[in-house]
Amino acid sequence: MSSQRIEVENLRVSYGNDIVFKGETFTLEGPGLIVVIGPNGSGKTTLFKAILGLIPVQGKVVLNGVDVTGRPEEAGKLVGYVPQFKGEEFTFPVNVREVVESAIALRKTPPRLRFPKGEKKRIDEVMEIVGIKELAKKPLSELSGGQRQRVFIARALVWDPPILIMDEPLTAVDPMGRADIVRMIKEIASDKLVIVSSHDPSLFIDTAKTIMVVNRGIVASGSPKDVMNEELLSKVYGRSVFLVEKCVHLVDGYAI
Ligand SMILES: Nc1ncnc2c1ncn2[C@@H]1O[C@H](COP(=O)(O)OP(=O)(O)OP(=O)(O)O)[C@@H](O)[C@H]1O
Ligand SMILES: [Mg+2]
Repeated sequence: MSSQRIEVENLRVSYGNDIVFKGETFTLEGPGLIVVIGPNGSGKTTLFKAILGLIPVQGKVVLNGVDVTGRPEEAGKLVGYVPQFKGEEFTFPVNVREVVESAIALRKTPPRLRFPKGEKKRIDEVMEIVGIKELAKKPLSELSGGQRQRVFIARALVWDPPILIMDEPLTAVDPMGRADIVRMIKEIASDKLVIVSSHDPSLFIDTAKTIMVVNRGIVASGSPKDVMNEELLSKVYGRSVFLVEKCVHLVDGYAI
C-alpha cells in the first residue's frame, strides 16, 4: 500500500485582514476516514485549499514526504479533490465521460485523451459504482446538481489517488444516492486517506477514525467518542447542539 500522510506545520492563512488560520500544526495518516466539521465560514474549504496549494499560505504542507506548499501541480499528483458545489454553471461543451477521463488524461505526459483497455475498464467501473454510467454522453451543462456531484466524485476516484479530499460531497445528492456514496467513501477509506467535510457527520461517525472540528482554527481533533460531546460542540455550534438518544434517520434510506 502506498503511504498516505499529510503534515501541516504552522499553517497561517488569511484573506486580506481576515485571518482564518493562525498557526496550525497537525499530521494525518492513512488509511482511514477523517471527518471535518464546523459551521459555515469556519474554514473547512480554506483548509482543503491550503493543503492542495490552491491558495497562498504561510507555513508548510508536506504530502507523503513531498513539500507541496503553494504547488498545486505537485499536490495534484497525490490528492483526488471533490470541490464544494456552490451552484456554478458549467457551459463549456464537455460530456460526463470526458470529465471523468480528463483526470487520467491530464496526468499523462504529455496529456492525452487515448486510453489503453485497462484504463477504459477502470473508467467504466468507477462510473458504474458512482451511478453515472447512463449519463456518459450527456453534456455537463445539462446535469442536475446531484448528478454533477457524482461526476466530480468519479473524477476524483478514477486515477486511484492515495489521498482523497471531498468537500461536502453529499450536497445536492438525494437520500438513496447518499447511501451509495457514503458506503463507497467508507470502503475507499479502508486503504486510502480520505478526508470529508460534512454538515451531517452522523452518516460517517461509525467509520471515522478522527473528527476534526474547525472554527477559525482547529479547535479539536480526535476520535468520535472524544470529540462528539455536547460540551465541546456547544462551544462551536452554540444552541444548535442537542443530544438525541434514540433517533431514526431517514437520510440514507435505512434506519440507523
Ligand atoms: N476567496 C476568498 N476571499 C475572501 N474571503 C474568503 C474567500 N474564501 C473564503 N473566504 C472567507 O474565509 C472564511 C472561511 O471560509 P470557508 O469557505 O473556508 O468556510 P467553510 O467552513 O468551508 O464554510 P461552508 O460550511 O459554508 O462551506 C469565511 O469567512 C469566508 O468568507
Ligand atoms: Mg466550505
